[in-house]
Amino acid sequence: MITTIKDLRRWSRQQHDSQKQIALVPTMGALHDGHLSLVKTANQYSDTVLVSIFVNPIQFGVNEDFHQYPRSLENDLRLLQTVGSPEVFAPDVAEMYSAGFDVSVHVGGVSQPFEGKIRPTHFDGVATVVLKLFLASGADIAFFGQKDFQQVCVVRKMVTDLNVPVEIVVCPIIREPDGLAMSSRNRYLSKTQRSQAIVLSQSLMLAEKMITCDNIRDAETVREKIRSKIETAPDMKIDYIAIADPKTLHELTTINSDAIILLAAKIGTTRLIDNLLITTTMS
Ligand code: PAJ
Repeated sequence: MITTIKDLRRWSRQQHDSQKQIALVPTMGALHDGHLSLVKTANQYSDTVLVSIFVNPIQFGVNEDFHQYPRSLENDLRLLQTVGSPEVFAPDVAEMYSAGFDVSVHVGGVSQPFEGKIRPTHFDGVATVVLKLFLASGADIAFFGQKDFQQVCVVRKMVTDLNVPVEIVVCPIIREPDGLAMSSRNRYLSKTQRSQAIVLSQSLMLAEKMITCDNIRDAETVREKIRSKIETAPDMKIDYIAIADPKTLHELTTINSDAIILLAAKIGTTRLIDNLLITTTMS
């Protein structure tokens, strides 16, 4: 396991000197099958996979769960042994943010709506740490989950506009058998909250059926259906339900091209997100 940027650079140089491509999977740890699926996909692209494990303080708002965020490094390392034992970079906060750190990467446009409205400093924190990880690791290719769809849009935009020489690969959402998207935060849920949480993925399935089978194109009608399904769970408080263009994240009034449905809701103190890409070619 590597813990310093200096050692990471040395490792990275050795890999590149032996003509190896570095495949990076950035994570905040508390690994689950969603993270492991990214590592498995990365294994298919390269023999040299690096998983970063770093709970990034600057992407958490002041009232968010940075201090409570689950940390389980030993278990994470054990889980990574089941998927080819990639190299691990697990720095501490002081290593990533030395005293006086004073730079922020701000992506406009796609970082503004939805999560950006509710968590105004979140994507600056994500873009900044992801760029630092790309630079420190010398990654050639990096793997992200569609689970955080808006995060992928932000990272892609940063990579394009700053000409960062890292290829971005997006991997599908891994779900529990009942449909709940896997998340490190699911472990916060009580038994009743866990049973209510399935309405999120169920509402997305309903929406997909409305659009692709029943040919309903009015975004507001679909949003209402999603809302009423989510409201069947008494403790679920909706943050937003959005139907948007998957490239620009501009909201759609009529669904006549590809669309991304994005949801965020709180149950108790736990915030859950989910999304579904509708790619059926529309007539
Ligand atoms: P984290 O929430 O740990 O997620 C790490 C990666 O795993 C992200 O790309 C995320 O989209 C992906 N992921 C999470 N749950 C998934 C699931 N159910 N199916 C598939 N992929 C899933 O996202 C972050 O960390 C951070 O913001 C980070 C990019 C590491 C920057 O700090």
